[in-house]
Amino acid sequence: MSNTQHAHWSSRLTFILAATGSAVGLGNIWKFPYMVGESGGAAFVLVYLLCIALIGLPILVAEWLIGRRGQENPINAMADVAHQAGRNRAWLLVGVSGILGAFLILSFYSVIGGWSLYYTLSSVTGVFSGQDADGIGELFSGMLASPGLLLAGHSVFMLLVIGIVARGVTKGLESAVRTLMPALGVLLVVLIGYGMTTGYFGQALGYMFNPDWSALTGETVLAALGHAFFTLSLGMGIMMAYGSYLGEDVNLLKTARTVVIMDTVIALGAGLAIFPIVFANGLDLASGPGLIFVTLPLAFGNMGGGVILGLLFFLLLTFAALTSAISLLEPVVEFVEERTPLSRVMSTLVAGIGAWALGIAALLSFNVWSDPVLFGLGVFDLLDKLTSKFMLPLTGLGAIVFVAWALERQSVETELGLKGGSATLWHLVARYVAPIGVIVVFVSSL
Ligand code: PFF
Ligand code: NA
Repeated sequence: MSNTQHAHWSSRLTFILAATGSAVGLGNIWKFPYMVGESGGAAFVLVYLLCIALIGLPILVAEWLIGRRGQENPINAMADVAHQAGRNRAWLLVGVSGILGAFLILSFYSVIGGWSLYYTLSSVTGVFSGQDADGIGELFSGMLASPGLLLAGHSVFMLLVIGIVARGVTKGLESAVRTLMPALGVLLVVLIGYGMTTGYFGQALGYMFNPDWSALTGETVLAALGHAFFTLSLGMGIMMAYGSYLGEDVNLLKTARTVVIMDTVIALGAGLAIFPIVFANGLDLASGPGLIFVTLPLAFGNMGGGVILGLLFFLLLTFAALTSAISLLEPVVEFVEERTPLSRVMSTLVAGIGAWALGIAALLSFNVWSDPVLFGLGVFDLLDKLTSKFMLPLTGLGAIVFVAWALERQSVETELGLKGGSATLWHLVARYVAPIGVIVVFVSSL
């Protein structure tokens, strides 16, 4: 989009839908439950919720505010808003690191999008029907062991993302988000209902909300913080880019609250759908990235109408993954398009193919290239940890420090419509609680 006639969202609702489309994705349904399982349950969940409320929400507001003031891509927006406030243009580094993070995340996000596609097809063929935990587990490990299958899924998924972004039809997807997101919510409710019939729902509830604080380590707190950024699409310039299409009339705090609540409800709902199945079948809580792929098919294979529900579920999951992946590619493309002579279509191809190539290295780490490459981690884990635990929190920290410390306090409060007590609260959280929270978590995990 050119800077001279920077477009705007047609309404506040469109904006909420686009932001929600970016936020709600694999992070909620695939990643959140397995992180809870790996990190010992409720203590992790509660720390995560604290991170969302005290760190994620203010940073979401900060990113939108910067984008709206800048009215251009994240790098230029950071540079210009800093300049206007009499600060150093070097703040643009926050935008640069965000775009790099988006590129890295897209590469492995697409691999999981491919899993979701494969499971959509598998549901149609009815392979889940009547399977026990072992059968479903073999299906999953069979997929992981096959580079060809993973490559096919990853490639088709990335092709869809590239196709959509190249045509710039992102707008059309917003109307789809409006219907498909609620449908995903309804299916989660059906799955939670199924969980209640297993007799293990109470145990799942306790696991998710009754904390055993001894399970908490510096490492899991950092994981919770990192995931708060990942799930809200923060620290990647994406929310900044979305904010740049925003008019003055939108109330940032109220809108942020809406998006954060929707994202959190979907994540908790996914956990409540999955853990009863885990307990009922004696599955491994810490089974990692495969968790939803070895639990949900069990439920679908053993419930009435499971074939059609399974198909619908994985289709909707794929769709949610697509809307998030599109939001990951968009800022990278915008950057390439504005910084090089390439056209929109060529920029999309260059950025998309780059992420696709890196994704191949990531998917091979599940089979033929499982040896650690750095810090004892394979490529997939390395990309995941590097972005969630380091790049996103540090970039988000840059955004909130910038808004709370480098911009004029009065102007920010006016822009957010804050007065009196609520202004003081914002000031305390944005200046101290959120940045210090990020720093403390960071330092204590080292
Ligand atoms: N927030 C998305 C999710 O939870 O699946 C993932 C994501 C999308 C992360 C876009 C970052 C991003 F910029
Ligand atoms: Na999310």
